[in-house]
Amino acid sequence: MRVLITGGAGFIGSSLALAFASRHADWQIVVCDNLYRRGSELNLPRLKAAGVEFVHADVRQPADLERVGHVDALVECSAEPSVMASEQGGGEFVVQTNLLGAYNCLELAARHRAQVVFLSTSRVYPVAAQEQLRLVEGETRFELADDQPTPGAGPEGISERFPLDGARTLYGASKLAAELLVTEYAASHGLKTVVNRFGVVAGPWQMGKVDQGVFTHWMLSFYFGRPLAYIGYGGEGKQVRDLLHVDDLVDLVDDQLVRPGHWAGRTYNAGGGRAGSLSLLETSALCREITGRDVEIGRISETRTGDVPVYLSDCSALFAHTDWRPRRSPAQILHDIFDWIHDHEALVRSALT
Ligand SMILES: NC(=O)c1ccc[n+]([C@@H]2O[C@H](COP(=O)([O-])OP(=O)(O)OC[C@H]3O[C@@H](n4cnc5c(N)ncnc54)[C@H](O)[C@@H]3O)[C@@H](O)[C@H]2O)c1
Repeated sequence: MRVLITGGAGFIGSSLALAFASRHADWQIVVCDNLYRRGSELNLPRLKAAGVEFVHADVRQPADLERVGHVDALVECSAEPSVMASEQGGGEFVVQTNLLGAYNCLELAARHRAQVVFLSTSRVYPVAAQEQLRLVEGETRFELADDQPTPGAGPEGISERFPLDGARTLYGASKLAAELLVTEYAASHGLKTVVNRFGVVAGPWQMGKVDQGVFTHWMLSFYFGRPLAYIGYGGEGKQVRDLLHVDDLVDLVDDQLVRPGHWAGRTYNAGGGRAGSLSLLETSALCREITGRDVEIGRISETRTGDVPVYLSDCSALFAHTDWRPRRSPAQILHDIFDWIHDHEALVRSALT
């Protein structure tokens, strides 16, 4: 099987490519990337050493994708995944890469009758409806209250039944629009497709920055002694996200590629869920424990556009369909990020600090 991973030099794409190359000797793995993300170039030697073919290609350009040749399966991981990029004038690149790029990938898949795994995001859920959710303020975090005004929301998080009406940032809108295209191509070309709406994904080799990859960004700041800030919601650091170890994500996507029929036409939330979540305050405590260091953490009470106080993936629909479960805890994720920085300190320092 020849598997194309678009955005394959990025955090998730390279993790998938390297894992597939080592697990499936009979698969040919090819990645394409335009190396737009700072730090993605650091993955090229790792991919080469694992025998993964690299094509310098931009998903906005159909001719670039043509150079990849025949593919049996396509995992769409190319994106501008930063919410802030779309809010700060990078809209054209966001829409062109996330939406037009997805369209070009689907056209390629249709021509080769290839299976498609699409990486979507929890950001497809509208912001205003999430702002209306009832919260309970605990010592270290906000929790979602038991009774919620909106269907598809509860203490375990947000499910696929959460209403999709309303604005969601340009990033979320471009990904939701791409999801709609996936459904169209599945129907009109008979493609086997699956859409994963991931919450925060984290782990080693994520080129974390303040607006994307927040858990790596947090650990990097503790490691290198750089100041941080709790931004929004009164500046107390009680906002919460679930996080999924990238190795857990790899296990899920591997199964989806191995059993296309089982997954065809499905859209699921996938994330760490309530048990796999952290507030920023709790993240700081863990980072302090793991690094043995402390850093100055400021408070900025003003909340950023498009931010939400809590996001937890309610994965009950996914769990009813598969035995897959997230196996790595938030503490393990932070330990793995710490080990990665420690083992590649010079490289990480040059690329990210
Ligand atoms: N990391 C997360 O927490 C998370 C959560 C939910 C969904 N996702 C989705 O997962 C996918 C991968 O995200 P990631 O975290 O690996 O991001 P990443 O930025 O590390 O990887 C994306 C890669 O796409 C490449 N790219 C960007 N524009 C391109 C273009 N026009 N043509 C070709 N390549 C291009 C970048 O250079 C980068 O290497 C994205 O679709 C993202 O929306 C990520």
